[in-house]
This record gives sequence, structure tokens and C-alpha cells, in this order.
Amino acid sequence: MFKRLADAGAAVAITVDGKPVAARSGDTVAAALLAAGIDHCRTTPVTGAPRAPYCLMGVCFECLVTVDGVGSRQGCLIPVCEGMKVETQIGKREAGR
Ligand code: FES
Repeated sequence: MFKRLADAGAAVAITVDGKPVAARSGDTVAAALLAAGIDHCRTTPVTGAPRAPYCLMGVCFECLVTVDGVGSRQGCLIPVCEGMKVETQIGKREAGR
């Protein structure tokens, strides 16, 4: 569904739910997930419905993910970095994470 307009930026290796994903420097986490064909980054706490990044500018909070063990991070505002561990978020964030 999404594809890069240009092949700019150096390769950055991240993992998403334990699987390797090839991102590019300058990508946000949300952009890297979309470019990799990952169709949702969280599920809702109430119904479990899948949600995907929507605004890509920090307004809608649909892009919440766990990044390096910290939950409820806005993926559209966090640039990828080498070795980053991203997990899709199931429901609400656990207390203390
Ligand atoms: S996509 Fe809307 S806040 Fe991240």
C-alpha cells in the first residue's frame, strides 16, 4: 500500500515483534512500519481492533508502540535508530512500562 518515493537514507536495522525490518535513516518508527507493510501498530484496549498510524504528525495517537521496552510511544515522532526494538502494542500500556 505504501512505498518510498525515493531510496534515500542509509539502511537501519530494527526489529518489530522480534522480526528484522529494514528501515532507512530519517524514517520515523511509524513510517518504517508502513514501508515494511505492517498494517497496524496497536490494538485498542476496549475491543482489540487494530489501529494504524493516521496523521503522522503527533495528533491522533493511533501510532502507539512499545520502543525498547517503553510503552505508548508515538511512533510517528520517534526516528529509527540501529538496533531499536519495536513491539506492536496490544491494548493499553502495562503499568511501569
Ligand atoms: S500517527 Fe497520529 S499521532 Fe502518530
